[in-house]
Amino acid sequence: MRSKLVVGNWKMNGSRAANATLLNGILEGLGQPRAAVAVCVPAPYLFQCEALLQGSPIAWGAQDVSCHPVGAYTGEVCMSMLQDFGSRYVIVGHSERRAYHGESDALVAKKAKAALDAGLTPIVCVGETLEQREAGHTMAVVGAQLDAVLEAVGAEAVGKIVLAYEPVWAIGTGRTATPAMAQEVHAALRQKLRACNAAAAETTLLLYGGSMKPDNAADLMAQPDIDGGLIGGAALKAADFLGIVHAA
Ligand code: G3P
Repeated sequence: MRSKLVVGNWKMNGSRAANATLLNGILEGLGQPRAAVAVCVPAPYLFQCEALLQGSPIAWGAQDVSCHPVGAYTGEVCMSMLQDFGSRYVIVGHSERRAYHGESDALVAKKAKAALDAGLTPIVCVGETLEQREAGHTMAVVGAQLDAVLEAVGAEAVGKIVLAYEPVWAIGTGRTATPAMAQEVHAALRQKLRACNAAAAETTLLLYGGSMKPDNAADLMAQPDIDGGLIGGAALKAADFLGIVHAA
């Protein structure tokens, strides 16, 4: 029986005051959830997460990272900097980075490997656009995205990554994939993981992301291959985020 994991992706949102209100609200309402909980925040706020979440059951991390070690890479943030602030997770390959920053499957794979080499857990995002789904290319697209990562990290890393299926057409749109649609892709992704490392595939956490809300989270996470959620909009309100955490 796999554990559940609910991760909040704050995207480019937050302020010192708003973050303190949000994190304290989540901590106050957390109780004893069945799901593990984490937040992935803009890099400058990692200091605040470490200060407010240290010793709590909530883990934290970043939304992207350089594939390079420290050096002359202006504007980038490297793994050792994330480690400085106690990061556990780092999102790699979010569709917004693939779309707005031209991140290729190969670059995402390099970032995933760099995260594992640094002892962080990469949350690897895969997902198709509406056009790709309507053309019947969903599994070809997400399968290729996953294959690039598996080739880079190797079979022994299956079980050490977290995989997030985020249909691009569901992100921020309120148009959530149905539990059946999401389960179909999650099951196919798990099958690909099995082909790479059968034993570890059973422990790899597969998260769903794309308009997961308190009112649909339970049905989604009840699916056999949906092990939690990667949450955007609903992560910015303590009550909504807790509603998803407690639905796991
Ligand atoms: O990374 C999670 C995010 O892409 C989902 O966003 O607002 O649809 O929950 P949202």
